[in-house]
Amino acid sequence: MFRVGIITASDKGSRGEREDLSGAALRELVREIGAEVVEYAVLPDERTQLAATMRTWADELGLDLILTTGGTGFALRDVTPEATLEIADRIVPGIAEVMRAESLKATPKAMLSRAVSVLRKQTLIINMPGSPKAVRECWAAIAPALPHGIEILK
Ligand code: MTE
Repeated sequence: MFRVGIITASDKGSRGEREDLSGAALRELVREIGAEVVEYAVLPDERTQLAATMRTWADELGLDLILTTGGTGFALRDVTPEATLEIADRIVPGIAEVMRAESLKATPKAMLSRAVSVLRKQTLIINMPGSPKAVRECWAAIAPALPHGIEILK
């Protein structure tokens, strides 16, 4: 069974001013493939804090997969991709490419997500946009390939 961490990047969410519907949607989707959500955090849109959490979950907890939601757009405080690239060992362009390509069928706004996907050691890290709808659309695009991807990381 894969061990998964979910990070919601949201200033409002981290202050308790917005319910984390995207994180909840991801949690449900992850469970559907029989994986286990072992870590969950709602963090402000702060690059250092996001990077530190991903680094700890990869290096100390050895999670198989870290999914982030939010902070991939154009707002000045959207820094999730930069935090992810900061701790990346290797880039996995195909996952982000497929999420954007498939999402474009639902909305042209999909091109506005700067989401990246990377590997740090044996952890796969995937950014997703910050709405439950976007999370479901992105997940549907990549879920079929994820188990194999995680298996070959071992
Ligand atoms: N991707 C999908 N599949 N569905 C969506 O509705 N919304 C887009 C885009 N990607 C969207 C999507 C919008 S409106 C924005 S601004 C960007 O993701 C960035 O979103 P974020 O800042 O919440 O990460």
